[in-house]
Amino acid sequence: MQKILLLNGPNLNLLGTREPQQYGHTTLADVEASFSAAAARHGYEAECFQSNWEGALLDKIHEYGRLYKAGQALGCVFNPGAFTHTSIALHDAIKGVDGLPVIECHISNVHAREAFRHHSWVSPAAAGIVIGFGVDGYLIALDGLVRKFGAVA
Ligand code: DQA
Repeated sequence: MQKILLLNGPNLNLLGTREPQQYGHTTLADVEASFSAAAARHGYEAECFQSNWEGALLDKIHEYGRLYKAGQALGCVFNPGAFTHTSIALHDAIKGVDGLPVIECHISNVHAREAFRHHSWVSPAAAGIVIGFGVDGYLIALDGLVRKFGAVA
């Protein structure tokens, strides 16, 4: 069974209690459980990984780049948190693994918020972007990934 990576960046471990007016009351554990169940319904095995460390996110993208090349992974749904707006290294990692489809996902509508959230270093390297649908965005991104890159039944 091919794998799909759900990757979450800094502070997303605080989902459920962090700024609920922006991010809602659903916890990361809830998001990961519903993502894994939806991936299984599509016929994929989800791996869920969150880190507050940029290097750990880079290492995970590299690992999935290798799995993708080996035909063992379909792609990745990635909420890079604040690293979205700062990290050329994440941009380079997605470009560098050359092929792994990454769907960038943001819970809040970053374009309706502070100006420093309007620019993303990840978007030019992403295969698709889902913004502003709350935590449902993770499932919308999963559907998009499978529809665009999954095997046709
Ligand atoms: C976020 C938006 C980012 O600007 C912020 O730093 C986050 C969460 C979102 O999901 O809406 O940590 O990526």
